[in-house]
Amino acid sequence: MIELLVNKKKYRFEVDPETPLLWVLREELGLQGTKYSCGIGECGACVVHVNGEATRSCVVPVSEVKGKEITTIEGLTGLVSEALREAWIEGDVPQCGFCQPGQIMTAAELLASNPRPSDSDIDDAMSGVLCRCGSYNEIRKAIHQAAGRLRP
Ligand code: FES
Ligand code: FES
Repeated sequence: MIELLVNKKKYRFEVDPETPLLWVLREELGLQGTKYSCGIGECGACVVHVNGEATRSCVVPVSEVKGKEITTIEGLTGLVSEALREAWIEGDVPQCGFCQPGQIMTAAELLASNPRPSDSDIDDAMSGVLCRCGSYNEIRKAIHQAAGRLRP
């Protein structure tokens, strides 16, 4: 029996402890905002927060996150989340949209720790979160815009 804390709710269910967290989120809990793409930790489509840290859920066995606080795109709340969502909408960032949950979760971790990121801070934090539609410039602009909204 595994007990998980996801988006502030407790869940208990039977699952092989080696099952990747991503499978549990999507198949057991029905949280389909977190995407499956490469399955080997290379693309960032599956990023969630584990104790606030951006984590590629396709390569983390569910047994490793027992007792930790897991947040998916569905449960991302707070000022950083609002600023990002508004900037994403205003900047018309998503194209097909597939990569965007992973992009936003990664950007949220960046802004939580660095509210004034430079271009290179953004590029470092977001590197390896792939977008087949090539929305990288729009993403960088939207992160700057969200950071601006968060400044007093
Ligand atoms: S699906 Fe997890 S990094 Fe690509
Ligand atoms: S918006 Fe299509 S993959 Fe990023």
